[in-house]
Amino acid sequence: MRQFDFKDKCEERGFIAKRKVKWYNPVQLMKTAVKVLVSSIFGTFADRREFQTNGPNAPFFHRNKDELWIDYIADTGDGFHATYSMAYLLAQEQLVVDGKVLPRGDILILGGDQVYPTASRDEYYNRFRGPFESAFPENDNIPSPYMYAVPGNHDWYDGLNSFIKLFTQKRTIGNWKTQQQRSYFALRLPGNWWLWGIDIQPDSDIDGPQLEYFHKIALEHVGEEEMQVILCLADPSWVHYEKGKINNAYARLRFFQKRYIEKIKNVRGGTVAKRLKLRLTLAGDWHHYSSYCSVNKEGEATYKIVSGGGGAFLHPTHHLPREIPDLVDGPFYQKKVYPSVERSQQLLWENLFFGLRNPYLTLLIALVLWVPMALMVPSEMRVKGAQLLSIEPLNTIFSFFTELLVAHLMIGIIIGFTLIALNLLSAYVPFLSTKTWDNLSFSSLGVDDYKNFLRLHITPDKITVYPLKVERICREWSAYHNDAAPRIQPRQELKVELIEEPFELVSK
Ligand SMILES: [Fe+2]
Repeated sequence: MRQFDFKDKCEERGFIAKRKVKWYNPVQLMKTAVKVLVSSIFGTFADRREFQTNGPNAPFFHRNKDELWIDYIADTGDGFHATYSMAYLLAQEQLVVDGKVLPRGDILILGGDQVYPTASRDEYYNRFRGPFESAFPENDNIPSPYMYAVPGNHDWYDGLNSFIKLFTQKRTIGNWKTQQQRSYFALRLPGNWWLWGIDIQPDSDIDGPQLEYFHKIALEHVGEEEMQVILCLADPSWVHYEKGKINNAYARLRFFQKRYIEKIKNVRGGTVAKRLKLRLTLAGDWHHYSSYCSVNKEGEATYKIVSGGGGAFLHPTHHLPREIPDLVDGPFYQKKVYPSVERSQQLLWENLFFGLRNPYLTLLIALVLWVPMALMVPSEMRVKGAQLLSIEPLNTIFSFFTELLVAHLMIGIIIGFTLIALNLLSAYVPFLSTKTWDNLSFSSLGVDDYKNFLRLHITPDKITVYPLKVERICREWSAYHNDAAPRIQPRQELKVELIEEPFELVSK
């Protein structure tokens, strides 16, 4: 078996192993801004969800077995090292965690933001499809797990075009097979469990055809017996709500929960005796892990979990609220965050090296500021300033670069301090308490470790949730030509551990 460079292996399989997105690269910033602008303008006039009415109005049934394993991962398609590390783990026949054998999911749920920085056919291929296909190549001897996906805001940046082609046309992605025909879906699971994936286009109400889809399913497939729902969506609006209070995303979720899960109306507007209960809500979008729990008077627990550690850069956890007291389904209390608050706070200070981590943006700003300064500030003052900084008079090529370097370093430190200050202030100043400020200071760091995903074990009696972490991704690979299963293998250990003790949702 001949070993060769993993990048050649990727090209042989038709994709390019991409580096992680450099969000603070000026070219990247400009491209992203244009895509976001175009998508928000055209998204306002043409909602792709409205046209997805060809797919059947029926749920997908996965209740023929007594037990079912489901993997949940979100925010996947960024740099090759992180995305492939996670895809590789998902593809393994089993993972042994804390001595317990956890088999590969019969179903893989992708929780949004399958691709970065913005959706396009090529980006999906290079950053998502290629790595996932390589990690789990098509194999007739291994039963194909199903793959379902909800779109996140990054999937929406091309108006959902690429997402619809990739996930809703019954294609295969490696050995995973897709079967949803819309950007949302309902799965009937063993026992009285359902899993619903909804498409919440950013800054938009849930569309009529989608509401009709879930309404019809509830009317036709839910009987008198109490059913329990796992809801997947691409936005942890409950956390936004607590942090910002004014939040339309949570209002939309609350509307859906009340009207389409808890109190289903019939065509005449009367409430139908359907008994659906939301027990577990899963979201990505924020690239960390957080779990919140609420226990009602009968001792029944409900959970809300953010698990967005599938590939993209890490988000902080030290700003997450300890409790969310006034959600529609009760007060929720924080159980666990990953990485820890202390580690998250430590990482924040690495922004002091902003200039070194994000050299092009800092250099651009240094140049933009330096030119007018050089023209406007009298030469005597500049010479004096230079002497204060122990730099020689500034009239040679060498001193030009020295001046620019000093400007670069100073601006890097200023930006780094500003990001740290905004992050810290956002804990206390309501105006700054939005996700943008919290996460901005981590997008500059581009930390691609501290990954996480969920493995769920579903039986008629209960669901057990295993929250899993990978502290350190693999960055060195071996590629082999192997006819049976061409694979790229990690050369560094990919250790999977529990983030917190597995927790159970017992059926009523
Ligand atoms: Fe994301």
